[in-house]
Amino acid sequence: MDHADLSVELCGLHLKNPVIAASGTFGFGAEYAKLYDLSILGGISCKGLTLAPREGNPPTRLTGTAYGMLNAVGLQNPGIEVFLQDVLPVMKTYGTAIIANVAGSSVEDYAEITAKLAGSGVDMIELNISCPNVHAGGVPFGTDPAVIEEVTRRARQNAGVPLMVKLTPNVTSIADCAKAAEQGGADAVSLINTFTGMAIDPVTRRMVIKNKTAGYSGPAVKPLAVRMVYQAARAVGIPVVGMGGIMTPADVVEFMLAGATAVMVGTANLLDPFALPIIIDGLQRFCVENGIETLRSLTGAVRED
Ligand SMILES: Cc1cc2nc3c(=O)[nH]c(=O)nc-3n(C[C@H](O)[C@H](O)[C@H](O)COP(=O)(O)O)c2cc1C
Repeated sequence: MDHADLSVELCGLHLKNPVIAASGTFGFGAEYAKLYDLSILGGISCKGLTLAPREGNPPTRLTGTAYGMLNAVGLQNPGIEVFLQDVLPVMKTYGTAIIANVAGSSVEDYAEITAKLAGSGVDMIELNISCPNVHAGGVPFGTDPAVIEEVTRRARQNAGVPLMVKLTPNVTSIADCAKAAEQGGADAVSLINTFTGMAIDPVTRRMVIKNKTAGYSGPAVKPLAVRMVYQAARAVGIPVVGMGGIMTPADVVEFMLAGATAVMVGTANLLDPFALPIIIDGLQRFCVENGIETLRSLTGAVRED
């Protein structure tokens, strides 16, 4: 065998491979399109979209940590109207699945943005009910199963395309949150968003991030994310899209074995803009070397003996 089938099926969408650019780490693809052909990707989840444009939080918004990073970008984006008019037509030329990541401050916001996206040509909608860096919506939304179910149900009525709900890891039971999304009609769940973190400068004694708290991501969170993907995948019948600290092809395989149908890669793009093509190439090699003919056969195939 000298070639493996890397394709996966996600909610009726055929993805060339399971590797999707994670929201907020790939913008709308334009900068990366100058570096490589984006049609090699499984998909792109765009930066979180809100009804009105947002400038995001004041600096400092990003800092490196040992084995990860903290960010409090605060959902900087041009707003849904500019996305629909100017950004999406360009993204549609990339030849890969386009996932609109949306955020809001209320159940109504999510329902309204989802309605605006219906019929727009996006392939999927990802509800970000788990951003730790905005002061309304965001984490408080994503930590209450009753609210998860309600916001999902309202958005589902409008969506028209598969709806994926992105869960926060800042909860006691990820299984209960995944079940609530499924109950509300989600077609898939994606996890994890970032953990809420903080950093303090020991010399100046000031908060490193102006927003004080920030989202923690990168390789350090991977074992926590794998555990949560495993628990979520066992709790629900809908597909799970896994992420959190993926840096290598072997990490992708690990998430799939834990139960992920597809994966998203975030922080790795900020460390190396070629991270995604390198991971996709490596997945092909991993499959050939290990006699895996179809990558999708790995989903949930962890051995527990
Ligand atoms: C700078 C930055 C911005 C992000 N913005 C968003 C966002 O707008 N919407 C969202 O759902 N997730 C956002 N995330 C979370 C990532 O999509 C991903 O869930 C998280 O970083 C874990 O994956 P990773 O360890 O591979 O980065 C952001 C992450 C980073 C690092």
